[in-house]
Amino acid sequence: MTTTHERERCDRVVFYAAAVSSFLESSVPLYTRELRTMFAGDPAFLEWLDATWEPEESGHGRAMRELLARRWPEYRWEDAYDAFLREYTTYCGPHLLRPTPAREMLSRCVTECQAAMLYRALSAYSTDAGDAALFRSMYEDEVRHYKVFFREFRRYRASERLGALEVCGALFGRRDKAQVEDAGTALRYVNYGYSRELPFAPLEVEGATALAREALRAHFPSESARLMMLKPLAETSAAGRWIARGVGLAMKFEMQVVV
Ligand SMILES: [Fe+2]
Ligand SMILES: [Fe+2]
Repeated sequence: MTTTHERERCDRVVFYAAAVSSFLESSVPLYTRELRTMFAGDPAFLEWLDATWEPEESGHGRAMRELLARRWPEYRWEDAYDAFLREYTTYCGPHLLRPTPAREMLSRCVTECQAAMLYRALSAYSTDAGDAALFRSMYEDEVRHYKVFFREFRRYRASERLGALEVCGALFGRRDKAQVEDAGTALRYVNYGYSRELPFAPLEVEGATALAREALRAHFPSESARLMMLKPLAETSAAGRWIARGVGLAMKFEMQVVV
């Protein structure tokens, strides 16, 4: 008879999702360093980044790492994270940021939206009550982060006069880029910490992505994701709201990428 613990140890969806999140969330300080430079003239926002955003993201990284250590103690997290960081740090630097504050805030909105939706789906998927509560609270944090970045986006968008088409292009450009650079990079390094003591075979990037999509599809909050993703576009003008409705319809037929 398999125990709950054994069953949960075989759950590769939670394993791969927790590993990817632990890498990305733990490396947030590299990103804050660049944001601090771009927003040096905005002390209230910097204060929020330092006192709330960075500690909460690092906390998510720690929580994911603890979950991995608790359930899969044989997983060599440091080895995998070190290998990931060696590549990831080459992406970090001033070139990591978008060219203007409004565009940078827009890309933060997309990332927060993606993280929020992934954690919400994982919370609904989890059979372990502790995991479900943890993913739920991370989802709530990401929604709060989104709101702050969205508020800043509105301010900067007005002064930069970004129009609907520019916002639309930036939104979808960021969505694709985030998947390739962030989650894709993290996923490629998860197996660097693999141990033969683990109760499952390792999955390559395509296999892990397909498994997560299949498992989370029924739990993915497509409607909320659509609304949250298109909110900055609807914000620009009447034309933006019109495009948002058109794009929204198109998105309904597109499978959401969650990992
Ligand atoms: Fe986070
Ligand atoms: Fe966040």
